[in-house]
Amino acid sequence: MPVSPPAGEQSRSVSVAARLRGRPRLPGDKSISHRALIMATLAGGSSMVVGAGDGRDVQATAGIMAALGAVIDRVREDGLNVDYRVVSPGSDGLHEPEGPLDCRNSGTSLRLCSGVLASLPFFSVLDGDGSLRTRPVARIIEPLRSMGAALYARRSDTLPPLVVVGSPRLRGIDFTTRVPSAQVKSAILLAGLRAEGSTTVREAVATRDHTERMLRSRGIDVRREPATSSGGGSVAWTLDGGTALRPMDERVPADPSAAAFWLVAGVIHPDAELTLGGVGVNPTRRAAIDFLVRMGAQIEETPVGPVAAQVDAGEPLADLTVRSSELTAIDLGPDEVAAAIDEIPILCLAATQARGRTTIRGAGELRNKESDRIAGIAAGLRALGARITVTGDDIIIEGPTRLVGASTNTLDDHRLAMTFAVAGLIASGSTTIDRADSAAVSYPGFFTELERLQA
Ligand code: S3P
Repeated sequence: MPVSPPAGEQSRSVSVAARLRGRPRLPGDKSISHRALIMATLAGGSSMVVGAGDGRDVQATAGIMAALGAVIDRVREDGLNVDYRVVSPGSDGLHEPEGPLDCRNSGTSLRLCSGVLASLPFFSVLDGDGSLRTRPVARIIEPLRSMGAALYARRSDTLPPLVVVGSPRLRGIDFTTRVPSAQVKSAILLAGLRAEGSTTVREAVATRDHTERMLRSRGIDVRREPATSSGGGSVAWTLDGGTALRPMDERVPADPSAAAFWLVAGVIHPDAELTLGGVGVNPTRRAAIDFLVRMGAQIEETPVGPVAAQVDAGEPLADLTVRSSELTAIDLGPDEVAAAIDEIPILCLAATQARGRTTIRGAGELRNKESDRIAGIAAGLRALGARITVTGDDIIIEGPTRLVGASTNTLDDHRLAMTFAVAGLIASGSTTIDRADSAAVSYPGFFTELERLQA
């Protein structure tokens, strides 16, 4: 029995796997699922969101949209994904929520919804669990205030709960983000939809562009230019306020950040062949795939298409087949970290099996996620026998090392829980993952898939 039934309420043990084969089922992309629910609510009328990931984060956004006046039905669900029907009065018809809006563990719900609420003429409070209350909000308060909304937060406006008193008369701004953040960029662009004049967000490193693509497919003219005359990786996005979104149905691609766990499982396990179907391979989301290939991973990529190559919002998809591989170390700089921000924990596991010294430099933003992921990944992988050190915001991993089953501390963070579970597939003996239930934040059914691949 490779995966034990829950020992204690939420802990799991994973034993070394003899082989891995099959097609893991993946949740719908978390980022796109949040945005599709929000845009369906802003657009008004009726929209379907087909194949949304049914993790707790996306459920939180659905709950918030319902509290603002959208009628949200779960028309089909299979434990992993859900089809939503959203019927909404549109942004002009939304109303003040009766109580605090519960983002639960979801930073994306908090940041994206604050942008929406900034332009709605009422009072609201965004709150969440203990982890969410440690996530920085000054980065969204500053631009949304300068657009004309009033926002307040705990500890001198730095930590949630976040109070938003929206304004129907926002002004467009030209804002340069201080840290690469698709959440901040998206909050500003969503506020800009109802602002007077144009809103520009400049970023030094291009972050995921789902908001921009999805707004375009709903009739908004979102323009992209290099942010500075010297160009580089910088980009500026501009839209004009005052155009209503068109309702549309959205088919959500499989989540590349969830796929990354199986890609790494496949490459580090000595007897593995796994296929992942219909994964989103948007250029702003596929960095982890490219880094693994640079490390020597055998990943075969077959574009899905041509007819179905694009889902409604114009996202490219591919089937990915991964096989056991010999890896070599990699050196990632801060811009590359930003491009794979959610996949760094699982890439650290890959690095423990790669020949040589992997360095991941400038990873400080990882400390602002659902946990301090630098501390969490270092402690967990070290417990399993990895040679991993942290200097400031840099992570250094020497490989390859033989991992040995042990107890790991997930810090109640879904991406750490899944990373340690994948490590358990190659670690000798048994690996215990405490609070493994956190995987359901983004990937309900993750442990069922883990078991199925070993059958
Ligand atoms: C997300 C953006 C990223 C990422 C998060 C989802 C999004 O956060 O870590 O899981 O959907 O926009 P930041 O934008 O804060 O880096």
